[in-house]
Amino acid sequence: MQASNDLMKKIISLSKRLGFVYQSGEIHGGLQAAWDYGPLGVELKRNITELWWHEMVRSRGDIVGVDTAIITHPDVWKSSGHLKNFHDPLVDCRKCHSRFRLDHIEGTVCPNCGGELTEPRNFGLMFKTFMGPLEDDSAVVYLRPETCQPIFAQFQNIVTSTRMSLPFGIAQTGKAFRNEITVRNFIFRSREFEQMEMEYFCHPDQMDKWYTYWVQKRFDWYTDVLGISKDNLRLRPHAEEELAHYASGCTDIEYRFPFAGGDGYGELEGIASRTDYDLTAQMEGSGKDLKILDKETGKKITPFVIETSGGVGRTFLMVLLDAYREEEIDGKVRVVLGLDRKLAPVKAAVLPLSKKLSEQARKVEELLRPHWPVLFDVTGSIGKRYRRNDEIGTPYCITFDFDSLEDHRVTIRDRDTLEQIRVDIDSIVEVMSRLMTSGWERQGQN
Ligand code: GAP
Repeated sequence: MQASNDLMKKIISLSKRLGFVYQSGEIHGGLQAAWDYGPLGVELKRNITELWWHEMVRSRGDIVGVDTAIITHPDVWKSSGHLKNFHDPLVDCRKCHSRFRLDHIEGTVCPNCGGELTEPRNFGLMFKTFMGPLEDDSAVVYLRPETCQPIFAQFQNIVTSTRMSLPFGIAQTGKAFRNEITVRNFIFRSREFEQMEMEYFCHPDQMDKWYTYWVQKRFDWYTDVLGISKDNLRLRPHAEEELAHYASGCTDIEYRFPFAGGDGYGELEGIASRTDYDLTAQMEGSGKDLKILDKETGKKITPFVIETSGGVGRTFLMVLLDAYREEEIDGKVRVVLGLDRKLAPVKAAVLPLSKKLSEQARKVEELLRPHWPVLFDVTGSIGKRYRRNDEIGTPYCITFDFDSLEDHRVTIRDRDTLEQIRVDIDSIVEVMSRLMTSGWERQGQN
């Protein structure tokens, strides 16, 4: 990995310039820690969540999905303990007035100026608003600070409508909101973010087995599906004293983020063995029975749960950092986003060698567009257009030249090897399908 802050600066600047991520409300001075995903960013983000959804829901028979409301009944958060406990200890520096989370600083004085710190105060992390015309206590509702809790609150409905039996999971992706005290490092920690969470319910006797299974399964997703380098990832099991009182185990999947302090790693996802804490809490708060029948014993039990909880924004940032590289070719620097082709926002760029060839080249674009997001680019030299596409991670550039008019063939150039092949326009969809499935290295073998 390149020199740390330098790389972050490049990623932040590239994100804005090319349309991955903009600061929200930038023309009004910018809203701190709120980010808008641009045209390329929204494609990359959707690719991440869709790959997760495929892996966790569609490709399995034992996990179903939900999409619950962001504004949640306040009793969901009362029952879960969030209203009482979901806060951070906040301290201010008496001298320079900087504000910190006490658990984020080492030592007892201000890390900026060495000044004296105030006593810690509890700072509630949930965003509060009012439902309906009255702004009084009876109208208070909360934006969800995590996507999983409504899953527990809907547990009985989901079991009744799907007739799932143990072990099974319920998954959700969506927005979560936390009024974080300190927000920093671009989209790593923001106040509005997206989560990908799955709750896997099992018999208490099987908790350890499923915990081990999910830790490995989730780690493999980052390497095998997203193509992230193993060298930059690690599993970090929590020490006993870090665990919540109800949790019997928790392991974080961490990435070597360039800004991460300490030992250089930052959390991407947590896999936690949460016993029956959440279902019991929702049962006690609602007075409703959320137990289900254990088919093996014929008895009703409160299942135990293994949670996998990851952040979309952090995965997005990691993907950009891991893919970014600079290469020197003929004395010039080529910037490449070596994104896995499944993640690339644009799969192919159609480039007529000259403006005069646009009309005919458009026909190639029309063949591809029903199948993949493609880009048609006619401005600038062909070299510049290759560079622009390398920088946004387009795996394949398809050039329509003057010979194409005669031989009805186009040239496909591979982003990573820079190799080229000439293919018949009539077979372009078939060739692209092969490339998207098997990659450049294996395209000749199909
Ligand atoms: N239901 C458990 C839960 O929410 P968490 O560790 O607080 O656990 C899970 O959050 C994941 O959500 C984190 O690993 C991270 O990827 C993401 N996340 C949490 N807070 C975030 C924030 N303020 N900004 C961006 N992502 C965040």
